[in-house]
Amino acid sequence: MKQRVVSGMRPTGKLHIGHYHGVLENWVRIQNDFDCFFFVADWHSLTTEYADTSGIKESIREMVLDWVGFGLDPAKSVVFRQSLVPHHSELNLILSMITPVSWLERCPTYKEMQDNLSAKDLSTFGFLGYPVLMAADIILYKAGRVPVGHDQLPHLEVTREITRRFNYLYGNVFPEPEALLTQTPKLLGLDGRKMSKSYGNSIYLSDTAEETTKKVLSMMTDPARVRRSDPGEPDVCVAFNLHRIYVPQEKLDEIIPACRGAAIGCVECKKILADCMNERLAPFRAKREELAARPQFVDDMLADGSNRASLISDTVMAEVRAALKF
Ligand code: TRP
Ligand code: SF4
Repeated sequence: MKQRVVSGMRPTGKLHIGHYHGVLENWVRIQNDFDCFFFVADWHSLTTEYADTSGIKESIREMVLDWVGFGLDPAKSVVFRQSLVPHHSELNLILSMITPVSWLERCPTYKEMQDNLSAKDLSTFGFLGYPVLMAADIILYKAGRVPVGHDQLPHLEVTREITRRFNYLYGNVFPEPEALLTQTPKLLGLDGRKMSKSYGNSIYLSDTAEETTKKVLSMMTDPARVRRSDPGEPDVCVAFNLHRIYVPQEKLDEIIPACRGAAIGCVECKKILADCMNERLAPFRAKREELAARPQFVDDMLADGSNRASLISDTVMAEVRAALKF
């Protein structure tokens, strides 16, 4: 029997290529090897977006189109929406009863996020409880593995602690989930900072080939290479962090010495990159467009996935209630 995997993403809108190579590509890759549950963590969005929820619905749609367009297969994986499976909330409530506040307060992401998002009032009960809801998401399906990046490891540690405490208090109901660590290459954006929606320096999965080419041509290179005749250095070139992902090795073997010897110009070099990116992304973008043209696709798929998820969560919650002698 395949091990069960559960992972979620907060709906932040359309995904950029950093999300793709960091998380989504890995989800797609493991679909055949695990019994996968992937969900839209829309309740988690409320922890930071509670004051303005108007964008969440559209964000879900854009994100799910990216998921399926770029290879998540609802026939292989259960793809669903957290808020359509109310058991997440019921288990969250029960877990919140047994979770010491100190575990949450000492979670490094707690203070960090509050500082990073200082424009928002994150002194809420729900924001503090983010890791509890995440624990509920995971153990509700008795997941064995959780594909996460390094940034989520503290949360997963809280999940494991809560799981042990539940099992200690009420009997062995849940397996202790383990991380399925994925190396996440931190992609640089057009301006050399980390690729991030809020910096406006991203290339989106849903960008057209023309938009992609335009963005790539505007991308920073080696800042020391001012004139075409100056030698460049791929290792410090911003664009080159994308070459490494998209341009075949034989071509890189030509570009690297040509750059160092000023035998190739940055415009030409970035055109090669843009062409490789567009070639690789084209079939996924076409699929995404096809799905986007079907107005009911996202809602229907999430409804179906959520029904399938509920079949599991229903039996697990029955076990939980029995363990609590309710
Ligand atoms: N916290 C995750 C993030 O911000 C999203 C998430 C919510 C999640 N619940 C989860 C991830 C359960 C893995 C498992 O990206
Ligand atoms: Fe970067 Fe290519 Fe320009 Fe060299 S030639 S600095 S690798 S864009």
